[in-house]
Amino acid sequence: MSGHPLSIQEIEALGYYDFMSYLEVPYFHIGGLVSTEKLAELCRLDRNKKVLMVGCGTGFSACYLAKKVGCLVVGVDIAELSIEKAKERAKKEGLEEKTDFRIGDAYALPFEAGTFDAVITEFVSQFLDRDRAFREFARVLKPGGCVGINEMYREKEIPPRHAEKITHAENIFGEITGLPFTLQTPEEWKKELEEAGLVNVRSRKCRPTPSLEETKKLIGAMGGTLGFARYFAGLMVKMIKYTLISKKVRYRFRQLGEGKKILLRKKSTAKYVGYVLATGTKPEK
Ligand SMILES: C[S@@+](CC[C@H](N)C(=O)[O-])C[C@H]1O[C@@H](n2cnc3c(N)ncnc32)[C@H](O)[C@@H]1O
Repeated sequence: MSGHPLSIQEIEALGYYDFMSYLEVPYFHIGGLVSTEKLAELCRLDRNKKVLMVGCGTGFSACYLAKKVGCLVVGVDIAELSIEKAKERAKKEGLEEKTDFRIGDAYALPFEAGTFDAVITEFVSQFLDRDRAFREFARVLKPGGCVGINEMYREKEIPPRHAEKITHAENIFGEITGLPFTLQTPEEWKKELEEAGLVNVRSRKCRPTPSLEETKKLIGAMGGTLGFARYFAGLMVKMIKYTLISKKVRYRFRQLGEGKKILLRKKSTAKYVGYVLATGTKPEK
């Protein structure tokens, strides 16, 4: 699928995340590679660990962790094109020994019970039925293993007029992704992990802030300033091209912009939203 440029009809037929993968968007989670590294620390990852990244997208974070920490990272995603791109990335970065990407559904992971030291999601669990997904994550974990998630939250107490706008943004993301999207409070994330049988659960609130550290990490992960500049120029060209050609793409970007403005940029609403780094352990017995 990814081997040849797609026609505009093929592009319009792609699901939202397949489309974003086609554009080569590196990652979606706020907090970026800084939060990925933090989550790895919280899950105590090291080079001897076997990690599952559910909803790995195009494998950017997965490859980053395989390189940075040296752990073995298995990535699954339901979007076929994302997995193709992830495999291409691993090959290009010489990480085929340290990564394994395959199509897989968070609700029915294609692995035996007790396979992994850690299961990680970044901006994936917020689109899932957590009751089913977290139990499935716990199933494939070894006893003593860790679930680590980076997912968005909304505060519990929000003045009604701002809460309404945030709900509007949730609906926008639900519509453009075709997936249910409702933000939990940090306490609800904790409770849902506990209900899956995990213990020592902690949910840490984080605020999205642009950081120089993140830019540096991104430049490094893209092979230096030139690679970074080339990537962004390429992304801009593709976005402008498809926006001009396709009404459907235009609509998607407009909606995406509106949703992001409410959740991330508009001070009056964005202050009630952020992301949690939450972890929980599978009991030894
Ligand atoms: C917001 S993207 C996040 C991708 C990546 N983790 C990141 O941080 O950039 C959500 C991803 O979850 C995947 N996804 C959605 N539902 C899924 C499911 N049931 N099983 C596996 N992956 C799923 C989508 O295809 C998409 O790649």
